Amino acid sequence: MGMGRFAFALLLVSLCCTSSRLADAYDPLDPNGNITIVWDFQSLDVKAMAPYTVMVSIHNYQLYRHIEHPGWRLSWNWAGKEVIWNSVGAEATEQGDCSRVGGAARPHCCQKRPVMVDMPPGTPYNQQVANCCRGGVLSSSTQNNVTSTAALQMVVGEFALAKDKEPERPWGFDIGVPGYTCSNATKVPSTRSKVDKQRYVQALLTWQVTCAYSQFRESGAPPCCVSLSTFYNSTIVNCPLCSCGCRGDDQLGMLPAVGDDDEPVAPIVHCSQHMCPIRVHWHVKVNYRQYWRVKVTVKNYNLVRNYSDWNLVLQHPNLQSITQLFSFNYRPLVEYGTLNDTGMFWGIQYYNEMLLQDGDVQTEMILEKNQSDFTFSGGWAFPRRVYFDGHECVMPPADQYPSLPNEASLTTTRSLIAGPCLLLLLSLFLLL
Ligand SMILES: *[C@@H]1O[C@H](CO)[C@@H](O)[C@H](O)[C@H]1NC(C)=O
Ligand SMILES: *[C@@H]1O[C@H](CO)[C@@H](O)[C@H](O)[C@H]1NC(C)=O
Ligand SMILES: *[C@@H]1O[C@H](CO)[C@@H](O)[C@H](O)[C@H]1NC(C)=O
Ligand SMILES: *[C@@H]1O[C@H](CO)[C@@H](O)[C@H](O)[C@H]1NC(C)=O
Ligand SMILES: *[C@@H]1O[C@H](CO)[C@@H](O)[C@H](O)[C@H]1NC(C)=O
Ligand SMILES: *[C@@H]1O[C@H](CO)[C@@H](O)[C@H](O)[C@H]1NC(C)=O
Ligand SMILES: *[C@@H]1O[C@H](CO)[C@@H](O)[C@H](O)[C@H]1NC(C)=O
Repeated sequence: MGMGRFAFALLLVSLCCTSSRLADAYDPLDPNGNITIVWDFQSLDVKAMAPYTVMVSIHNYQLYRHIEHPGWRLSWNWAGKEVIWNSVGAEATEQGDCSRVGGAARPHCCQKRPVMVDMPPGTPYNQQVANCCRGGVLSSSTQNNVTSTAALQMVVGEFALAKDKEPERPWGFDIGVPGYTCSNATKVPSTRSKVDKQRYVQALLTWQVTCAYSQFRESGAPPCCVSLSTFYNSTIVNCPLCSCGCRGDDQLGMLPAVGDDDEPVAPIVHCSQHMCPIRVHWHVKVNYRQYWRVKVTVKNYNLVRNYSDWNLVLQHPNLQSITQLFSFNYRPLVEYGTLNDTGMFWGIQYYNEMLLQDGDVQTEMILEKNQSDFTFSGGWAFPRRVYFDGHECVMPPADQYPSLPNEASLTTTRSLIAGPCLLLLLSLFLLL
């Protein structure tokens, strides 16, 4: 009995100590994850003050975070009096006041702080560049390393000259997605960029901006919660009450304003005690001699949203011994030394890569028991952390986890596993 309590206490302590909700940009699961914006100058004639051509590419180097609809909106402040004469692959949301530019030609954008948005799929070919036109959506680098990059090309005129005879760097970069902050531009050794399927050009000058994500900065209500069940206990531990909101909360019950495509659609969720758009259910399904089987179901309670290219990150010490996985893709996230307890799961193309409104996706996995630490007691069989689409999900409190029917028999089982020595000690103890 004491052992179970002790294990619970340990679990509680470890959950508290490893909680990342308040952590800053650093993500131990993806320490090198970032979004990098590259400005490659394809033409630059400083002496003539001629307009320059720049290829701007946005690379999502994050393993498990993607940018969803309504997509990125890249903005910055010009250092001087620049105007964008032309843009392909993306367009400025506003032309702004171009009255200071004389002549018949009309620039694409004269704003001091332009906001560029990706073109939608199906844009005419003459308005495209390679990697453009996906409506601002960027895959995670694990799920698709092609669609994790976006690009646009601009012709920029009237730039100010700095002392080093290069255009002065714009500043105040923002990708328009909650949770991300961007650095200023730095000059890096010039790179080559792809202009079409088969041609690369060498840049004359390259600038780079890095954007980092922080869950703390994103704030807002969590979008998902976790529920638990087992074969050995009929109790189903639901998501905590009001995990993502409470029944009757205004913003959840309201119909979203239709028509404004720039705003994410407010979730309309099924009425439930957790009010989360997404629930992840972990069921300990079967106990074999050397293996055990877990079923994971991801349910979409959002009635107005399909989650395309969804992903799930699970942390459990037994994931290093996953021997079989059904219906999902899997990749261990071993970014750190030898710790191999976290894995990323995502859908199979044309099968379940899309989590439909009011639908679900599910997997079963078979894990090999490690006799030195495997146990059904103390909540060990449940995940330590769960993320859906890069957002940490709300777990039930550890003291509510389904427990084994009989804690005494559990202690004996563990002792049996631990070896005859302990068993001997235990029988001595019981006899006394
Ligand atoms: C951004 O990500 C790339 C790819 O993982 C990495 O090489 C680079 O060091 C990262 N940059 C920063 C500033 O973290
Ligand atoms: C991109 O993904 C493909 C297929 O998943 C893989 O073969 C290729 O090595 C990846 N490229 C990079 C640069 O990671
Ligand atoms: C970025 O550049 C702007 C303009 O040069 C400057 O005001 C700002 O302090 C810089 N920010 C950082 C973080 O260096
Ligand atoms: C979700 O996908 C289904 C099936 O493809 C489609 O009928 C439905 O309109 C989609 N819903 C949204 C909100 O896009
Ligand atoms: C991590 O665990 C997976 C199984 O989940 C295994 O295939 C992989 O080899 C392990 N990697 C390391 C570095 O231990
Ligand atoms: C079994 O667990 C122990 C303790 O956690 C660990 O040191 C060992 O590497 C694990 N063995 C396997 C095969 O996973
Ligand atoms: C199932 O787990 C719950 C929660 O830990 C516990 O209160 C209950 O006693 C368990 N049921 C049985 C039959 O052991």
